[in-house]
Amino acid sequence: MFSEERTTVAVSIEEAERLAAELYGVAAAAATLPGEYDCNFHLRTNDDREFILKCMHPAREASFIEMQCAALEHLREKAAHLPLPRVQSTRKQTQFAETSDSAGQRRLVWMLSFLPGITLEKTNPHSLEILEGLGRFLGELDAALATFSHPAVHRELKWDSSRAGWIRSQLHHIEEPSRRALVEYFLSLYEKEVEVRRSNLRTGPIYGDANDHNVLISPAWPQPRKIAGVIDFGDMHHGWIVSEPAIATAYALLGKNDPLSIARDIARGFYRAFSLTDPEVAALFPLIGMRLAVSVVNSAARKKQKPDDPYVTVTEDQAWVALEQLAKIQPRFAHYALRDACGRSAVPKAQKVTAWLKQQRDAGSSAVEADLRTTPLHVFDLSAASSMLGANPATTESHALTRAIFERMEHERVAIGIGRYNEARLLYTTAQYGGDEANRNERRTIHLGLDLFVVPGTPVCAPLEGVVYLLAENMAELDYGPLVILRHETGDGDEFFTLYGHLTRETLRELKPGQALARGEVFARVGTLHENGGWPPHLHFQVILDLLDRDAEFPGVARASERSIWTSLSPDPNLLLGIPAEKIPPVESTPEEIVPRRRELLGGNLGISYRKPLKIVRGWRQHLYDETGRAYLDVYNNVPLVGHSHPRVVRAAQEQLALLNTNTRYLHDNILKYTERLTQLLPDPLRVCYIVNSGSEANELALRLARAYTECEDTIVLEHAYHGHTNTLIDISPYKFNGSGGSGKKPWVHVAPLADDYRGIYRRGEPDLGAKYAANVGETCRGLQTQGKRPTYIAETLPSVGGQIVFPPSYLAESYRHVRAAAGVCIADEVQVGFGRLGTHFWGFETQGVVPDIVVLGKPIGNAFPLAAVVTTREIANAFDNGMEFFSTFGGNPVSCAVGLAVLDVLREEGLQANALRIGRLLINEFTRLHQRRALIGDVRGSGLFLGLDLVQSRETRAPAPAQASYVVNRLREEGILTGTDGPHHNVIKLRPPLIFSESDADHFCVTLDRILLEDPAQPAS
Ligand SMILES: Cc1ncc(COP(=O)(O)O)c(C=O)c1O
Repeated sequence: MFSEERTTVAVSIEEAERLAAELYGVAAAAATLPGEYDCNFHLRTNDDREFILKCMHPAREASFIEMQCAALEHLREKAAHLPLPRVQSTRKQTQFAETSDSAGQRRLVWMLSFLPGITLEKTNPHSLEILEGLGRFLGELDAALATFSHPAVHRELKWDSSRAGWIRSQLHHIEEPSRRALVEYFLSLYEKEVEVRRSNLRTGPIYGDANDHNVLISPAWPQPRKIAGVIDFGDMHHGWIVSEPAIATAYALLGKNDPLSIARDIARGFYRAFSLTDPEVAALFPLIGMRLAVSVVNSAARKKQKPDDPYVTVTEDQAWVALEQLAKIQPRFAHYALRDACGRSAVPKAQKVTAWLKQQRDAGSSAVEADLRTTPLHVFDLSAASSMLGANPATTESHALTRAIFERMEHERVAIGIGRYNEARLLYTTAQYGGDEANRNERRTIHLGLDLFVVPGTPVCAPLEGVVYLLAENMAELDYGPLVILRHETGDGDEFFTLYGHLTRETLRELKPGQALARGEVFARVGTLHENGGWPPHLHFQVILDLLDRDAEFPGVARASERSIWTSLSPDPNLLLGIPAEKIPPVESTPEEIVPRRRELLGGNLGISYRKPLKIVRGWRQHLYDETGRAYLDVYNNVPLVGHSHPRVVRAAQEQLALLNTNTRYLHDNILKYTERLTQLLPDPLRVCYIVNSGSEANELALRLARAYTECEDTIVLEHAYHGHTNTLIDISPYKFNGSGGSGKKPWVHVAPLADDYRGIYRRGEPDLGAKYAANVGETCRGLQTQGKRPTYIAETLPSVGGQIVFPPSYLAESYRHVRAAAGVCIADEVQVGFGRLGTHFWGFETQGVVPDIVVLGKPIGNAFPLAAVVTTREIANAFDNGMEFFSTFGGNPVSCAVGLAVLDVLREEGLQANALRIGRLLINEFTRLHQRRALIGDVRGSGLFLGLDLVQSRETRAPAPAQASYVVNRLREEGILTGTDGPHHNVIKLRPPLIFSESDADHFCVTLDRILLEDPAQPAS
């Protein structure tokens, strides 16, 4: 038995305070800290200094304390940058004291500085930064400890992984056979993979106890959080260095879903500070499992001795769950994943085998009866960004894809088409690829083979000498269909496999496992769509370095998050086939490659959303897809009103563009059809339309119209407003002219207070809010009137850039009344809110019961096609028609009008305004419930699918919480949901999804948001 098998002997608080005073001269209030054997206290002096007093178990030996003190002292010298407790000297200048407690028991007492921080246990979430940071911290710690020595560090400790075999004789304590079998599995893995490598595992003094009570994390802000230290060096021992990250991982993965990704994060961090050797990396996964196995055996044994001790079972249930999760991971795969995390090629033999394959290519190897080095062929783009079949990721409909592929090959006059290796594809739509209809999970997208599109019946030949390893018929939809795997060896005897999918059934009847094949021998034929898993006829050819015991279930497509591991397991088959590199366009560029190129080629002030920029290559309905095929639920973009790439809208543009696109100096029906439909949606007297290309162009024109009518340039705008990016529009946009780089307000611009009843000068609950806010507009109008000026008043009907503001009732009515009393013009900017988004009304101005003189439309009306419009009264239009021709080259062209018409059709036919109302109400109800539970949400506002969540530090002061808002938005992005922030303080989460947003989307959004709002950085500061 190990020496820790003891029970606690208590020390009272009074006694701790007495000991602190007597031994250290420190007058402090003590509070008990949890401890398994020894008694620890937190001390706080009157002048707020803090210490940890440790009164050791009577059975503790002095050498044990001496070792820890010496180690902490060593670390203070060798790794001063690591925050660690510092040993405090006693009044007698010793590092610890021997005394006796009130019960007359001998006690060794020592005192440490207090290390501020939040335990990992109380930290949420355990982010990538924290896990990698923990690995790195431990690596730095152990690197510094490498030069430490003390006799007591060579101790017999049950937690020392190099002695973990002790559990072998204790397995009988685990009564349940399946659980015992689980432990036996990890024990045998330890014996096979670790104990045999014993001599290759470096040893040294290690900290050895990075559990989530001992690891301290910095406060939630500033981000990213850092490791604020580790405490309790009581488990320090001379052991295997690699046990350190293994122990940390065994704790960190408790209660989580993806143990391997946690192991990778910690290993990556550790490796950066302390380079692990190949055998050490190979021991890592078995050691993680073994640490958990030791833990459950220890609990089982101690439970029998001390059934009521809470320490015995503290993490037991979670440890069992973790063991079950780990047992599902193929240990060799785990090894490869950890090698990958530690900067190596995942599969150790990968470089050797690929070099050998290249040599074979030079000798001529092919999987078909043609030399692919010279045969004419066409390389297809089947990536997530491919435009071959349109935006719908489900368009793998085999017949259409087959037609597209073979027609193209015919057109190119080639007999072989190539589908690229390591290409991220959305073609894999069935459940076995991990996808779900709502696009919530990471599905497998990375193609691990190379496709050879050829006519059915095409002979397949062995590119190398080999033996038939297995034959299988994977007949699930979009699976391999009839499948053959051949086994080969390199000249050095390294085993590897080649896989051939989508063959004929007959192939399987004619081959036998074990059958030897000569290089170039025909052994199979390419199957038809009806027998090959439902794919366009092709051979899926893949090289596999380790079958991972998965045989016929070895994947041909991998998750993008594991891309580097799987591409090491399945290297590029073209190494063997030798298709000239210049014929194969490179796979998609990554965001990391694009960002610097943008900096080079584009203006520096072109913004990019999110801390981790997104490359978006496809949009379909309410989802956007990145270059790896990952789907993001779009809760932000108001432009794709009827859904991204709506087929009806796309078809309208394509058909018209294929026929004619020209300008309004020629007569055409489209512009009349469109303007007729637009004006039908607007009240009298808004009857005259101008069609342009962007919101800015439309607002610019609206100002020209207004000025032509009023013969005056004075313009009243709202605080924080934004109306567009031209010179004049910047001048009337306080958001810009008052913002960074802005040059201030022009004298002809008059800024009225934003009628924000949550944060503005008059607040919800007061009477006549609308009139009170509008009074300011009235004053300005009267002032201008006395100077003989006629004002133009421009406002968004629900200010979006201002923070998704809903005006108090009658605000616009009162403002318009004042403007009109001064013979002015009222412009309603409906660029963001118009077109049914609000649910209750088609236009924002309708919610305020007003009719503007000029309405400006943009963004959503073309569903992402450049289209904008200005609609006004005949009277204003006549004033503008002053002899100068109005012409916008692209404005009102037949394509944009065809698009506009299609958008209107879809809106009506799909009942999208009603959907916006229904889903908007669900969201508001759920947000209102969230508001009661989560203090960060100060206000919930909006209408339909135009919503805002105003995040605050305190509900009382309403102090905005922009850092938290940005955190939430970036976390949502990590979770696959796109939102953004807005408002003058950047603290309002802005929600404006396509109007096809569903109930399930709304649920998913609310559940994810709720989870994120529980995380530490999403808490209000006060
Ligand atoms: C309210 C409002 N008006 C006008 C514009 C300008 O539109 P565009 O960017 O299409 O020129 C914007 C753009 O964000 C806007 O939000």
